Amino acid sequence: MRVAVLSETDPAEPRVAAVPETVKKFKALGADVVVQAGAGSKAGVPDAEYEAAGATIAGSARDAADGADLVLKVRRPAEDELHHLKSGTTVVAIMDPYGNEQALKAMADAGLATFSMELMPRITRAQVMDVLSSQANLAGYRAVVDGAAEYGRAMPMMMTAAGTVPAARVFVMGVGVAGLQAIATARRMGAVVTATDVRPATKEQVESLGAKFVAVEDEEFKQAETSGGYAKEMSAEYQKKQAELVATHIAKQDIVITTALIPGRPAPKLISEAMVASMKPGSVLIDLAVERGGNVEGAKAGEIVTTANGAKIVGHLNVPGRLAATASSLYARNLYAFVETLVDKEAKTLAIKWDDELVKATNLTRDGQVVHAAFQPKA
Ligand code: NAI
Repeated sequence: MRVAVLSETDPAEPRVAAVPETVKKFKALGADVVVQAGAGSKAGVPDAEYEAAGATIAGSARDAADGADLVLKVRRPAEDELHHLKSGTTVVAIMDPYGNEQALKAMADAGLATFSMELMPRITRAQVMDVLSSQANLAGYRAVVDGAAEYGRAMPMMMTAAGTVPAARVFVMGVGVAGLQAIATARRMGAVVTATDVRPATKEQVESLGAKFVAVEDEEFKQAETSGGYAKEMSAEYQKKQAELVATHIAKQDIVITTALIPGRPAPKLISEAMVASMKPGSVLIDLAVERGGNVEGAKAGEIVTTANGAKIVGHLNVPGRLAATASSLYARNLYAFVETLVDKEAKTLAIKWDDELVKATNLTRDGQVVHAAFQPKA
């Protein structure tokens, strides 16, 4: 069994799909591991460390992928990478399948068996493979670090000889994995933290982290969680009440971090231009949902926008990639944990059980077809 780790072709992607620790584990499974030269350089892993872990280094993507049974990547292979990959190769990555039906068809046409890590079911057995959680947790942490860096004042209250510095007020909107980590990080830095979400279960989680919960707690709110634990899209009436509550609260905040997402839908718009305009000069908004359309009006993907009233709206792309070394280690472990389930340990070969729950949930293409029910090509 030959496992290839390719460099990412997107210049905005510094993460890498394997680290020396997981290379050793693949070797222990009986695999030969080939790493494309420089694949780990932006994540702080030089080629020599992969070699020391037992990998061989290949000069190009073509050489690395040559004869590979399994290709590991962070992102979906781009169209011009597909010709390196022979038909029948298994590819595991964060495939970003929603709205990318053409790209999925291209992978099917190339004869690849592809698996999308972000479609992993959120069941106990698969927690160790949950890339959404491992990466969102880091994004939540980094959002606070970025917010603190952009904010021209201190985060904690300080009593100094020159006088008292007040604590920053941080408001976190959306309390999933990223939001919870943002709350915990902002608390550790000494901020006064409030948070909101449409799922009632989050109230207790927010309070257990020492933050205050702010939300319209009506009948609709009490029903707002799906059986999978995700948010539903809220009614126009609820959104209006929510906006009124947020409007009065936000004018008093120093740093706002938004993380609100609804699976398969554009991100809900939670902060209007008027709300941003009500904030003090020097306030900072960090929009972690910017890649899915954004929670903040006026947020621009990949940019820091300074508004007329002197607030900053930060729309960094690929926030987990801003912690490339940590994000890569966690992602690589998620990948290894999944791939291990695809291997016959006696025969030391790939032996994918196509009826396995995790395989069915994540398999996008196989035998020349897009096989995942959610991504069938439209007529
Ligand atoms: P997500 O990334 O899909 O969304 C982030 C947050 O935005 C969610 O908490 C959601 O309720 C909130 N949101 C959506 N619309 C909103 C609005 N209009 N206003 C305010 N907030 C809004 O969520 P994530 O981080 O993937 O977590 C979703 C759930 O999955 C959580 O309950 C989490 O605890 C659970 N989970 C379960 C795991 C497991 O069982 N293995 C692993 C990870 C998460």
